[in-house]
Amino acid sequence: MRLLITGSAGMLGQDLVAAARAAGHEVLAFPRAELDIVDASAVAQALSAAHPEVVVNCAAWTNVDGAESDEAGALVANGAGAGNVARAAAATGAWTVHVSSDYVFDGSKRDPYVESDPVNPLSAYGRTKLAGERAVAEAAPGRHTIVRSSWLFGTGGPCFPATILRLAGERDELNVVNDQVGCPTFTGHLASALVEIGARRTSGILHVAGGGTCSWFEFAREIVSRAGLACEVKPCTTAEMPRPATRPAYSVLRSERGDEAPRLSEWTQGLSAFMAAVPAVSAR
Ligand SMILES: NC(=O)c1ccc[n+]([C@@H]2O[C@H](COP(=O)([O-])OP(=O)(O)OC[C@H]3O[C@@H](n4cnc5c(N)ncnc54)[C@H](OP(=O)(O)O)[C@@H]3O)[C@@H](O)[C@H]2O)c1
Repeated sequence: MRLLITGSAGMLGQDLVAAARAAGHEVLAFPRAELDIVDASAVAQALSAAHPEVVVNCAAWTNVDGAESDEAGALVANGAGAGNVARAAAATGAWTVHVSSDYVFDGSKRDPYVESDPVNPLSAYGRTKLAGERAVAEAAPGRHTIVRSSWLFGTGGPCFPATILRLAGERDELNVVNDQVGCPTFTGHLASALVEIGARRTSGILHVAGGGTCSWFEFAREIVSRAGLACEVKPCTTAEMPRPATRPAYSVLRSERGDEAPRLSEWTQGLSAFMAAVPAVSAR
């Protein structure tokens, strides 16, 4: 398969390039410096010249708190930009795989969110990601997959485990929120699933996240314990650690689409893979 990847220098993008190449596909990787998805004519031109069979959009404004003070800026990338990619892909006959987020939900459920659950984003970032889903569906009807995932971590960018490892190395004690529950997802695992989804061209929305669930506190405790660090990890509430963007209290994603949605390994296995690569990460 001839696969074009936007946002290819991002955390997920890097793993996707590697996973697609490892699976023997021809990869056309476009980092932001080479293709800005906000520029509709540049996107149309790049895709028409490249003639991909599948386009995976990994490009996004991912600064969740920053989006609160510049929602218009986030919307242009996450909404219009996503639409530009899907429209250009449809025009060249390619299938679009677009990556979206658990933050389209409000977190009021206490059992896993499935694809047909009603959306109700609490944050500017969540609203822009939802706008992107709608823009993709409108621009490439019947020719797209929207893959919602959550709590991404990987070796290709700043992420929660990397931050916890750094802080736990510097401090004796860390307070981490225990009242937000979700599914940490290793980008290496999600990347392989995206390649599979691109090859299968499963239509519509798919929930694809790491197996198992935990709170940020439980995630941090596991990271610190595996690293053998002496730092004490203590649970705290979201109210005790206010942030500009409101996060869903519960955003566990599961699929109601049976075998159509690839099932990822447990997040603990993702963490093992991440920890195995940690020396390489800290050496960068
Ligand atoms: N991280 C998470 O926890 C999480 C959870 C659920 C879903 N997602 C989704 O997963 C996808 C990948 O996220 P990630 O974690 O890999 O984030 P990331 O590391 O921030 O990667 C996003 C990439 O997109 C690029 N980009 C931003 N604006 C662009 C534009 N206008 N045109 C082209 N490229 C642009 C960024 O470049 P610069 O760095 O140069 O700006 C960056 O390389 C995104 O759709 C995100 O919304 C992420």
